[in-house]
Amino acid sequence: MSSEYLIKLGKDIIPTTSTKIILGNTLKVPPLAIGTWQFGDTSYWGWTPAAVKEAKEAFDLACSNGLTFFDTAEVYGKGESERELGTFRKEYTKEQQDEQVIATKYFPYDNRTQFPDVLLSALKDSLDRLGMVKSDLYQIHAPIHPASIEVVANALADAVEAGLVKAVGVSNYGLDEIKTMHAALKKRGIQLASNQVSFSLIRTIPEKSGLIQLCHDLGISILAYSPMGMGLLTGKFGSKGPWPEARKRLFSSFDPEQLDKLLTTLASLATKYNRPQSAIALNWTIAKGTIPLAGVRTPEHVSQNATALGFLLSQEDIKTLDQFAFEGSTNKEWNHG
Ligand SMILES: NC(=O)c1ccc[n+]([C@@H]2O[C@H](COP(=O)([O-])OP(=O)(O)OC[C@H]3O[C@@H](n4cnc5c(N)ncnc54)[C@H](OP(=O)(O)O)[C@@H]3O)[C@@H](O)[C@H]2O)c1
Repeated sequence: MSSEYLIKLGKDIIPTTSTKIILGNTLKVPPLAIGTWQFGDTSYWGWTPAAVKEAKEAFDLACSNGLTFFDTAEVYGKGESERELGTFRKEYTKEQQDEQVIATKYFPYDNRTQFPDVLLSALKDSLDRLGMVKSDLYQIHAPIHPASIEVVANALADAVEAGLVKAVGVSNYGLDEIKTMHAALKKRGIQLASNQVSFSLIRTIPEKSGLIQLCHDLGISILAYSPMGMGLLTGKFGSKGPWPEARKRLFSSFDPEQLDKLLTTLASLATKYNRPQSAIALNWTIAKGTIPLAGVRTPEHVSQNATALGFLLSQEDIKTLDQFAFEGSTNKEWNHG
């Protein structure tokens, strides 16, 4: 039986793929999304053309498991992630494609000053790469645009009115920025659908700052990016490494003693719930009222992460995890959420 919830999952509801969350009064998505920064990104995730096969298998497996919500961005692999998704989608019927929800993002480069033209033109390029005529969810990647939030809101509203976008969202927006964007879109009769922020057991600041609550109060869903701490919480890395070169700086910034306690707790909960550690980390973000974007490279990642659904961590276990979780921080450059 399918059940639907506005903005976030209802309290004590066990998430399944037939549970749907409604974003921006428009989009129906499952409670777990798939992140695709990994598709095409060479510098951080070591993408090579040989990785296409596994990425395609991951996409197909996600779809056949009902995990039909995908997150990408124009900057991921300089458009490659969108191109790969566009290619993968071609094998699906129009009806199946309509069930998939693809969220992409506009990158607010410094030289993109002429709104709304810069946004409309970037959006059309993204749609071309994705092989779509209308974006499901179009997001502003970070609050670093060389124009006011009101100007950007009006450009997003123009995109909706031009029939190019179903719902609009933002990413990395802080408390005041969210209020301003929400109000500016409201003036144009549009509900801000989502704020995508880094949220996981290694970064709980969106909960502690009240951002998650504020967004929910304003009807805005929270999409949790890096919900497995970029792989750190999956159990494949120890608290002192070794770690992949690109992630070393982030992973080594955590107090190893606290990290050890967190990873040990995750491992014991994985045994208790008979699930991979990644599923425990993802279920914790779901229990906090967010929709995790689980980044994947392989079909094995998808099948393991899919087991984040079908159960709920007990309140007691959530409290134990909270005790060892890290607060993390914001930065003034781009991450205000
Ligand atoms: N809006 C933004 O500014 C922003 C920023 C970052 C990310 N995002 C979005 O959020 C998505 C997810 O974030 P993320 O990719 O940074 O971090 P993540 O989802 O926390 O971690 C993804 C990585 O975890 C590892 N992994 C995944 N499933 C696993 C499993 N079952 N077992 C073992 N390892 C597993 C893989 O690492 P290996 O590759 O090492 O195997 C994978 O690349 C991205 O794909 C992107 O769509 C948005």
